[in-house]
Amino acid sequence: MESGLSLRMQTTLEELLPAFGATAPLKQYNPTASIDLSSAQNEVLRSELVEFFKSTIEDKLTGQAFALPGPGRLDGGHLQLREALASFFNTWWNPIHVVKPEHIVLTAGASDALENVIHAVCDDGDSVLVPGPYWYGFEHILKSRANVNVILAQPPTYENYDNYLLPSLQAAYDFSDDRSRIKAVLLCNPHNPLSRCYPKKALLELMEFCQERGLHLISDEIYGLAGLNGVPTSAPNFVSALSLTEPLVPEGAVKVDPSRIHVVWSASKLFGMSGFRVGCLVSQQNPQLLTSVSLLTLSHTNNIASLCLYHLLTWSQFPTLLTLNSERLTASYRLLATFLHKWRIDFVTPTHGIFLFAKLVKNARSVEDERSFYDRLALHGVKLGQGRFYRGVEGDFGWTRIRFSVSIDVLKSALASIDSFLLQNN
Ligand SMILES: Cc1ncc(COP(=O)(O)O)c(C=O)c1O
Repeated sequence: MESGLSLRMQTTLEELLPAFGATAPLKQYNPTASIDLSSAQNEVLRSELVEFFKSTIEDKLTGQAFALPGPGRLDGGHLQLREALASFFNTWWNPIHVVKPEHIVLTAGASDALENVIHAVCDDGDSVLVPGPYWYGFEHILKSRANVNVILAQPPTYENYDNYLLPSLQAAYDFSDDRSRIKAVLLCNPHNPLSRCYPKKALLELMEFCQERGLHLISDEIYGLAGLNGVPTSAPNFVSALSLTEPLVPEGAVKVDPSRIHVVWSASKLFGMSGFRVGCLVSQQNPQLLTSVSLLTLSHTNNIASLCLYHLLTWSQFPTLLTLNSERLTASYRLLATFLHKWRIDFVTPTHGIFLFAKLVKNARSVEDERSFYDRLALHGVKLGQGRFYRGVEGDFGWTRIRFSVSIDVLKSALASIDSFLLQNN
């Protein structure tokens, strides 16, 4: 049957479906008989949050929630939630300028914020520089509606990858066929999949790089505050782009135009609430951009999710919840790290986040070695993210992203299953 799709949509499908197919599990894979540590869900606070949101709905839901959010206004949505988010960023993100509710546009998660900020600053066919490795969801978020291409900036190594941020961006920019079509750098900090933070120095250099070329900097900070305890003291702390939008050195040699700095955040990772679809864009000196993104996302948010997040952020126990999140993530991480050390498996030591990046297939020499190992492991009982999809170091196969943001019991079962698989395959 003829689909009647637009040419635009047909082209998008042709370009994106193969990538979706490539990351799909084998047909024989049975999700109910396997533990999925490949997705980026944080489940460690699940039971507390279920109880909290049940009582929120019971006690706080009123008829107001049935109305369209902010009809006829392009002010960024649900005022109370924007006020709570502003206070959240001012308390935890260390912004150089106070974040105000009018700097925030609510979106249906971080993907929605990314898609629409990209749509607002790029034209059809433009490009965005993205340092690898990166979360491969970026590709379809940029491509499917805005038709914007990712230009990859690859590091030569995973250890100390942050040293290569600027040189790799510089090389990708210089080698691009049409630099005039590059409109932005998209950074993920704390990083997915490496779960590390970029040092302040690298961020300052990046801002200077963007400034000199007139590029927007879109900083996806969705993993902010998911810090692990007891990490090496030499590891960089999380520094938000919001804390750097001023003269960057005391002498004021590097000045960054704050109208070009945009931060994306959602509740999806810190609280494992991806299904609530609630997030935001923060941009402190670009009202036209905020109006544009408000227009583009006007009908995307929903009042129930906004109500829940508002009450969570303003809950008196909120700081305790953040501490508990870090404690549980740390306990799970330690269990996983002990297992990886036992098997002498290399991994990038995570400091912030819900997964780590490890070379589980030590002797992988090809895509096929990597694919076959992880496909068989998924059939054996544990599904992991396959490293090559993250487009990190070229030709370095065998890596995986392993999520540890599950209960200790689930993680123990998964590790027992990986253990028996490694015993059979070594
Ligand atoms: C770096 C990054 N940004 C954005 C998202 C999407 O977040 P949301 O569910 O809020 O759209 C993800 C999800 O994995 C992510 O890892």
